[in-house]
Amino acid sequence: MPQPADLARAMVARGLAQPAAIEWHGTIGSTNDRLKELARAGAGEWTIVLADRQTSGRGRERRAWASPAGGLYLSVLLRPRFLALSLLPIAAGVAVAEMAAEHGLAVALKWPNDVVVPGDEPPRKLAGILAEAATGATGTDWVVLGIGVNLMRRELPAELLERAAALDEGAAFAPDVAAVAAAILAQLRVWYDAVGSSPRSVIEAWRTRALAWWGESVAVQTAGGLLCGRLLDVDGQGALLVEVDGETRRLLSGDVVRLRREG
Ligand code: BTN
Repeated sequence: MPQPADLARAMVARGLAQPAAIEWHGTIGSTNDRLKELARAGAGEWTIVLADRQTSGRGRERRAWASPAGGLYLSVLLRPRFLALSLLPIAAGVAVAEMAAEHGLAVALKWPNDVVVPGDEPPRKLAGILAEAATGATGTDWVVLGIGVNLMRRELPAELLERAAALDEGAAFAPDVAAVAAAILAQLRVWYDAVGSSPRSVIEAWRTRALAWWGESVAVQTAGGLLCGRLLDVDGQGALLVEVDGETRRLLSGDVVRLRREG
């Protein structure tokens, strides 16, 4: 089982010092849930929780996140002092995409922050991000960013094989989980700073890596129901803009699918 020191070493190899604690569990319910406990107890920014497998891994929209051995399950604690919180999961998506490119896998970003392998229809998902936050009297207390990455195709559950991608599809060797985590964390630091100093650059970085579905017909499953329209853009807060019956709708969460053209 990898140890916290393996991640600390992988970070040092990239010239990064780890400013806070690292926990690496064999089996845990959810790394996000564990890190939220630590956040409430006052843990410092960049505290990290990892696990080899999760028994109650959680995804967006209250879905379960299958978490067998052979994946990366990483949660990072942030205590942002800026307001552009909606850009944090967007920034994390860019960081994961950069890690995948470093591992030789061509990926794209699918709104809001899925990292997918383009080409198949629908594109297969490599990684997902779940951001959870708590606010106090003076603003945001903490944000827990949870990142799940499929590392090895042979470890994927059979029912996910058609919809999921794995990092080893782009690599000559089995990915080293500590090195993958360090690569994500290194890029996350860069983009986290950018959220505070240059939010527009984060949106630009996201947009240049996004699936080129602009102008196409899409359906978006939102909490309020299914919307069909033409995909326009993302705005400066990372919200999705979709034209529905001649009006621009601004969506904060949901799942987008591309609608097939007739004929
Ligand atoms: C999604 O639905 O795309 C988001 C998936 C997020 C999964 C990660 S794995 C580490 C962290 N712990 C969790 O329970 N969920 C996130």
